[in-house]
Amino acid sequence: MSENTTGSIQSVSKESRRFTPSDEFRAGAEVKSRAEYEALWKRSIDDPNGFWLEQAKALPWRTAPTKALEWREPHAKWFEDGELNASECCLDRWKGTANWQKAALVWEGEPFDAQGQPEIVTLTYAQLHDRVVRLAAKLRRNGIEKGDRVAIYMGMVPEVVVAMLACARIGAPHTVVFGGFASDALRDRIIDCGAKALVTQDMSYRRGNEVKLWEAAKAAVEQCPTIATVIVHARRPDHAAMDDAAFQKRFSLGEEDYDETASPTMMKGKRLVRFTSKGDGKFAAGEGDAVALPAEHSLFVLYTSGSTGKPKGVLHTTGGYILGAHLTCRYVFDLKPSDLFFCTADVGWVTGHSYIAYGPLATGATCIMFEGAPNFPEPDRLWDIIERHRVSILYTAPTAIRAFIRTGEEWPQKHDMSSLRLLGTVGEPINPEAWLWYHRVIGGGRCPIVDTWWQTETGSIAITTLPGAVDAKPGSAGLPFFGIHPKVVDQEGNEVAANAGGKLILAGPSPSMLRTIWGDDERFKTAYWSDVPHVYTTGDGARKDEDGYFWVVGRIDDVLNVAGHRIGTAEIESALVSHPSVAEAAAVGRPDDLKGQALVVFVTLKSGIEPTDALRKQLLDHVSKEIGKFARPDGLRFAGALPKTRSGKIMRRLLKDLASGVESKGDTSTLEDLNVLAALRGASE
Ligand code: PRX
Repeated sequence: MSENTTGSIQSVSKESRRFTPSDEFRAGAEVKSRAEYEALWKRSIDDPNGFWLEQAKALPWRTAPTKALEWREPHAKWFEDGELNASECCLDRWKGTANWQKAALVWEGEPFDAQGQPEIVTLTYAQLHDRVVRLAAKLRRNGIEKGDRVAIYMGMVPEVVVAMLACARIGAPHTVVFGGFASDALRDRIIDCGAKALVTQDMSYRRGNEVKLWEAAKAAVEQCPTIATVIVHARRPDHAAMDDAAFQKRFSLGEEDYDETASPTMMKGKRLVRFTSKGDGKFAAGEGDAVALPAEHSLFVLYTSGSTGKPKGVLHTTGGYILGAHLTCRYVFDLKPSDLFFCTADVGWVTGHSYIAYGPLATGATCIMFEGAPNFPEPDRLWDIIERHRVSILYTAPTAIRAFIRTGEEWPQKHDMSSLRLLGTVGEPINPEAWLWYHRVIGGGRCPIVDTWWQTETGSIAITTLPGAVDAKPGSAGLPFFGIHPKVVDQEGNEVAANAGGKLILAGPSPSMLRTIWGDDERFKTAYWSDVPHVYTTGDGARKDEDGYFWVVGRIDDVLNVAGHRIGTAEIESALVSHPSVAEAAAVGRPDDLKGQALVVFVTLKSGIEPTDALRKQLLDHVSKEIGKFARPDGLRFAGALPKTRSGKIMRRLLKDLASGVESKGDTSTLEDLNVLAALRGASE
């Protein structure tokens, strides 16, 4: 994508190959032709009430809704008089069906035994239900009630899904904080949503190392007055084997405050509870029961980066969200109870919420989860998992695919992946070369690929190609899902001509879209419903081709997409400026073959402070400590001054060109001091 000085977007991709669904795939798919897809889509836009009430029958409502949408721009309510429970949609509904004794989750841990075999845990729907009921009862016992927020800070273990569903069961909105976030980031999110409890774990494994979740959790909750209860899952085998007293001593919130004579579970005024969902958690009949909740009851808050200030707590509610997650599983992934679905995302991001936890379980499929990294102990961890478990659908990110291309075809070729029947990608635009490699090497040339465009805010897939109905074009996300009405518009909101670049907007609300930003409805309005009047602004740039396909080119606001992770430049800058040596900082992205975008920061030091390599490392470490290692900049340049307009605005466009090593073609006439730019050209990273 390139941005010229008038702000219009020029799209240059001219990919023209198409891949048509095979007759075999088409035969088993929910939607079998483009005409059928178009008729359904048109109905979803022209008659949203009729369409969505009909689709909503797919869920096990306690009270069926009689109306679909109530729209008071920009606030939508969906299925308002309906009642349901998301955990029932995922679990209880399968009682008495063949799914009940079938695996819901298959999990592989990271440590490998002498034979190179990982630990594997399989939970049937019945077993997962049992664990969720026990934890729900435990949450209730500890005073957590409907409406209370619960933060979840865990690694990729089955217990994280148990925790999410247990919260949903009692109507306590959860906020899952990605385990890669640092303590301060966890603290800020807990404080923002006023969580009453934190569910965490001692540690998890990644690339043979221990991720010290408890250390970070402990440091965070000590600064969080709203947290009354901390529930800890023991992951490390020797911790799991501890008796309760030893466990409580080990995980006390402050050794010095540990008082043997007081209630052994009270530490620093916070209750420490062991996460024992396995069998010994005693509870009274009914204590773990699901409650019927209004469709608009808050299901979760998930923090995501915006273009300004602190992360936004995206709020999703029960009925619309679960319907979106379920329907997209069925229509987009062609998901059936016989499928083994492998979404490689972390549950701390929206992809993990919708396509590990809620969507596949509400569809009765089996989900694979793994702890660790795709390239450890060898670059074939995923292919090994696919072969061992006979995975049928794989959903991963372009950045991962590009990394696999680099390590070579020999790794996937060692494995029999003939069980795969469909592939998906998400998180960033996929370059056609990577798409073709994925199709040929991983899909054996026989699996359709669904490129899925969506966002934390849309809750579920919004643009894609239904795999049995329409052709895929490598590099294009495809056509709108039901109820989604995207357009490419100019600054005034006028639709631009076919193939012209512009802003990607959604013309109206859809069931799984965010309802607001937690605690900041004004920001919800300004961030999404004000840039172009009366439509939802996605923040992405795109073009629509003559065939109606959308080609998303990337963000047009100050949000970067680094290895599929959404990072706000403002967050990085404020982390840097919080360091005592830093006067000013600017973060920009530059194209990167592997990560899509790499993060480069320009830093001006306070006067009298010398720019040294040691300080550079210290500043990079500082960002890791404040936000998390995944946000560590790829390059840092010291700058005597930053290029600014006469009104004092940092000209990021120029910095972006500098970081990318390209000559700035744009207008520099508004630049206050041309010497600044000349000085920066010489700086190293
Ligand atoms: O820029 C788009 C990009 O990721 C952004 C959303 O990021 P996040 O909320 O973290 O959710 C990621 C997973 C849904 C979008 O605004 N993006 C996501 N999927 C695609 C994409 N860009 C192009 N093609 C996609 N398939």
